[in-house]
Amino acid sequence: MGRLEGKVAFVTAAGGAIAGATARLFASEGAAVACVDIIEENVKKTASDIEAAGGKAIAIVCDVTDEEAVKAAIDETVSAFGRLNVVFNAAAYTDPLLPLHELDVDLWRKTFDVNITGMFIVTKYAIPHMKEAGSGSFINISSIYGARAAKKRPAYCSSKGAVRMLSKSVAVDYAEDNIRANSILPGPIETPRLLVANKNMDDVINRHRPHLPAARLGQPEEIAKTAVFLASDESSFMSGNDCFVDGAYNAI
Ligand SMILES: NC(=O)c1ccc[n+]([C@@H]2O[C@H](COP(=O)([O-])OP(=O)(O)OC[C@H]3O[C@@H](n4cnc5c(N)ncnc54)[C@H](O)[C@@H]3O)[C@@H](O)[C@H]2O)c1
Repeated sequence: MGRLEGKVAFVTAAGGAIAGATARLFASEGAAVACVDIIEENVKKTASDIEAAGGKAIAIVCDVTDEEAVKAAIDETVSAFGRLNVVFNAAAYTDPLLPLHELDVDLWRKTFDVNITGMFIVTKYAIPHMKEAGSGSFINISSIYGARAAKKRPAYCSSKGAVRMLSKSVAVDYAEDNIRANSILPGPIETPRLLVANKNMDDVINRHRPHLPAARLGQPEEIAKTAVFLASDESSFMSGNDCFVDGAYNAI
């Protein structure tokens, strides 16, 4: 029996690397998965991969900043699978690298809109369904940059710090409803996203070298495995935590 047998999960950014790997692993552990992303082709691919492997999935094209669209996506998930138990909140804007004084306020707002306001909206509409189900687990993707600043990422770092506090607030407010919320803070994970600011993956490793004692990048599946634990009842007394999955980046 899978570790998530009988659970229904809503996974944002499921067309991307980390959330795509998580959606696939959730399904292989027995969850029915609503795969959510703004890019139709990618989110359909994740859902069809899951179905091809014998799992249950639906693909939903939805912008997490659009309140009506999110409400409809959560309703669609509950109509398709009967309930909602787990939310993996991973949608993030790929902001340009700029020092704060060169950052346009619209880019600042866009980063916050996707990275934190979108998470708030998804959480708001998921909670009533988790209450109805009698329990729930939110897994919110922050970043090592939510704990340590990086050069030229003022909006991203600030928004990822906010993810940690949103998670703790949800953990505190809904503990009596048996609803848990934890953040994952990934270190550098080998995904195409890293190539926006670097020529290749060796460049990424060299740039991060002082903080990478293992001298390697993480893999999307290593975040997905942590998410399975947080989604499952194995982590039933764990809530409001910052879970660093970073190869000791934060320890140095
Ligand atoms: N890759 C890393 O090294 C790393 C490190 C720390 C944290 N993270 C975080 O992990 C998460 C996933 O990152 P990834 O590397 O898999 O990136 P990715 O670019 O592969 O995936 C991001 C996905 O988010 C989707 N998305 C963007 N805006 C959206 C919106 N408004 N509504 C719905 N979907 C939207 C994109 O279409 C894309 O599919 C992000 O929150 C990122 O900040 C990544």
